[in-house]
Amino acid sequence: MPFNGREKPDNGITVPSPGFPTTRMRRNRRTDWSRRLVSENRVTVDDLIWPVFVHAGDTPRIPVDTMPGVVRHSVAALVDAAKEARDLGIPLIGVFPYVDGGLKDPEGSYAVKPGNVICQAVDAVKTAVPDIGVMCDAALDPFTSHGHDGLLEDGEIVNDATVEVLVRQSLIQAAAGCDVISPSDMMDGRVGAIRAALDSAGYDHVQIMSYAAKYASGFYAPFREAVGSAATLGTASKSSYQMDSANTDEALREIALDIAEGADMVMVKPGMPYLDIVYRVKSTFGVPTFAYQVSGEYSMIKAAAERGWIDGDRAMMESLLAFKRAGADGVLTYFAVEAAKRLREAG
Ligand code: PBG
Repeated sequence: MPFNGREKPDNGITVPSPGFPTTRMRRNRRTDWSRRLVSENRVTVDDLIWPVFVHAGDTPRIPVDTMPGVVRHSVAALVDAAKEARDLGIPLIGVFPYVDGGLKDPEGSYAVKPGNVICQAVDAVKTAVPDIGVMCDAALDPFTSHGHDGLLEDGEIVNDATVEVLVRQSLIQAAAGCDVISPSDMMDGRVGAIRAALDSAGYDHVQIMSYAAKYASGFYAPFREAVGSAATLGTASKSSYQMDSANTDEALREIALDIAEGADMVMVKPGMPYLDIVYRVKSTFGVPTFAYQVSGEYSMIKAAAERGWIDGDRAMMESLLAFKRAGADGVLTYFAVEAAKRLREAG
């Protein structure tokens, strides 16, 4: 059984180790078959969630300069990408919008406009590829002229008014066919409000994966280029709503609240620099726990591989395995398609 982040039961048995030379740890590692036999954790395609970008124009694929190999898809191209992901066995894609500057305003009103590019994308994918899951963020940053996830009043991100907008955003996404709403804004109380609104609108089957422990991180920079919020946000900070990287106990409180409010699955973000949080969340709560290997993590591996400094494929698979070892049930990763292909080749 994979260790999966849970503490082994304390049954009072301590295993006596005779020590060297009776014990030689290298014996089990000597041959390939033996290494496979004693292997504790495994990445499978079922563990992968693929974040993808969509834009409203006709150009099928626009490369994202800050993320080698990642593109912004047109809606039509996204449908093809979703088919490829489904054919590889990837269970879920997360769709993120690139919004033209002309559609942004301080309220992020395009986020709640039925038929916006996200709704078009969800509808097109669910119509053509109904058997892949589709997830959408609830957050305003791709839509606001100031680049924040929430509404700004007198220089402050206001919580409760933002939650009302996030509820409306979630409802139009659910109406478009979104399977999983993923609040990434870090407002207080948003999971409960979204759950209640979904339920009363007849969307009780729509799941919520909350970005429950989301840190204010320097590793999001390449993503902000991809969705076009780098320029709008400028040097402004999200530290009044995203978490302080110094904190662990606070993450557990955030997770506990989101579970209590109705989150079906929780997420820790970023990923690799926060594996201690993944481990602690999974061991404490035992709920479906996901890690987001964010854009900066992806681009660091890609950039080093492009320079020949590391073997990119190897670093990719090793990084994904690390999430499993820490107890994650799955990983949001821009490597999803590449990793799925590798796994299929490896059989
Ligand atoms: C928006 C959002 C962000 C990411 C996912 N949703 C950026 C942010 O909070 O600034 C980051 C993803 C990544 O870096 O890959 N709320």
